[in-house]
Amino acid sequence: MDDPWQECMEHCVEVAKQAGKVIREALQGDVAVMHKSSQVDLVTETDQRVERLIISSIKAKFPTHSFIGEESVAAGAPSILSDEPTWIIDPIDGTTNFVHGFPFVSVSIGFTVKKEIEFGVVYSCIEDKMYTARKGKGAFCNGLPIKVSGQEDVSRSLVLTEVNFKKDTQRFDMMLANLRSILAIPVHGIRSPGSAAVNMCLVASGAADAYYHQGIHCWDMVGGAAVLTEAGGVVLDISGGPFDLMSRRLIAASTPALARHLAGHIAEFHVGRDDADGS
Ligand code: IPD
Ligand code: CA
Repeated sequence: MDDPWQECMEHCVEVAKQAGKVIREALQGDVAVMHKSSQVDLVTETDQRVERLIISSIKAKFPTHSFIGEESVAAGAPSILSDEPTWIIDPIDGTTNFVHGFPFVSVSIGFTVKKEIEFGVVYSCIEDKMYTARKGKGAFCNGLPIKVSGQEDVSRSLVLTEVNFKKDTQRFDMMLANLRSILAIPVHGIRSPGSAAVNMCLVASGAADAYYHQGIHCWDMVGGAAVLTEAGGVVLDISGGPFDLMSRRLIAASTPALARHLAGHIAEFHVGRDDADGS
């Protein structure tokens, strides 16, 4: 049977390539930085321009589809996941890296139907790595199949997370205590590459074994979640329970055993939901 979403996925790869080119060109000039929720929540004119480019290109081809885009939501658009075909877009995942020229900067796009992820595309545009995954068809980097490490032993694992300043001192202390608890297992190491989508693709490629995070968004997770699960990995809630795309929490791992082991070392703190206003 023909794949009903193949044309969408092909268009997604094309638009991610175009977006990546715009981002690389922008890095040649001065990057003016603005702030969103805090002094460390950065945004640039390029984030906004790239999101407009992606949405207008997709809308021109698929005018009835729905969208959730990071910069549109920042400007007041709703962030509700419906059953409709929906494109979930992070125009630049790793804006802080982009601002500093640190080389993990990605365009992350996922596509859902009836709230299920159908495909994901993550273009790590400085590295020029195009990660793609269609449900049931495997995961690829620049067209070559990728798979997870298969690591089950936490004490032999390389773990990724992101370390962000939190205004709420209790949450900040809990985040640091979680880091300490995982380092003390001990694991081989913890790394913080700075782009959630790239983090998931690193686990998908076997270069790292797990990634955990509380406080990210659906647009940070969706593309990488597609790539990771198609590469043989698992995406779970931070508690070790089922993953919820709008929950702002995840453990992504090479194996369920590794994810569950890490979950036992992570204290949960409140992060709200992406769809909090509408559900
Ligand atoms: C950020 C990145 C980063 C994570 C932040 C996210 P953005 O996304 O994924 O790794 O630590 O929590 O907000 O803002 O660069 O799209
Ligand atoms: Ca972003």
